[in-house]
Amino acid sequence: MTISKEHLPAPSRRSVVTAAGVVSLAAALAACGGSEDGDGYGSDPAAEQKPDSADNTDDTEEAGGGAGGAVLAKTSEIPVGGGKIFKDAGVVVTQPTEGEFKAFSNRCTHKQCPVTSVEGGTINCPCHGSKFAVADGSVQASPAAKPLPPAEITVDGDSIRLA
Ligand code: FES
Repeated sequence: MTISKEHLPAPSRRSVVTAAGVVSLAAALAACGGSEDGDGYGSDPAAEQKPDSADNTDDTEEAGGGAGGAVLAKTSEIPVGGGKIFKDAGVVVTQPTEGEFKAFSNRCTHKQCPVTSVEGGTINCPCHGSKFAVADGSVQASPAAKPLPPAEITVDGDSIRLA
């Protein structure tokens, strides 16, 4: 009698677990068996995962923007038709026309001197007199032969950030 009681619980637990497994498999097979419903279920989890992925991407972008996208200036600091040099960031930000912002490397393409002024619609190098257009960085006065390379910025509201 006592021996049979010891043996009974173990098989009964296994039976319950096995039965549960069978029920789960049966449910899974039933769900898959209805191919139309199966496709529908298949789409929904995928659709649910996409927003999650997008949220993660957004979080990453926000974190990246906060870390790498230091605010350079307020848009109001950049004169229309002119620009401002950010020596530490190595960029010149210009506003060729109102509301249009551009950015370029602050290194002259002639001998790599840092440019030091933005006047008369040009970004000016003091070393040998090269001048570059505020609109596109193109050479307006030699000896530089190549335009200033563009730099990536983003304008977020009234803040200009490094991209
Ligand atoms: S380094 Fe700028 S003009 Fe020569």
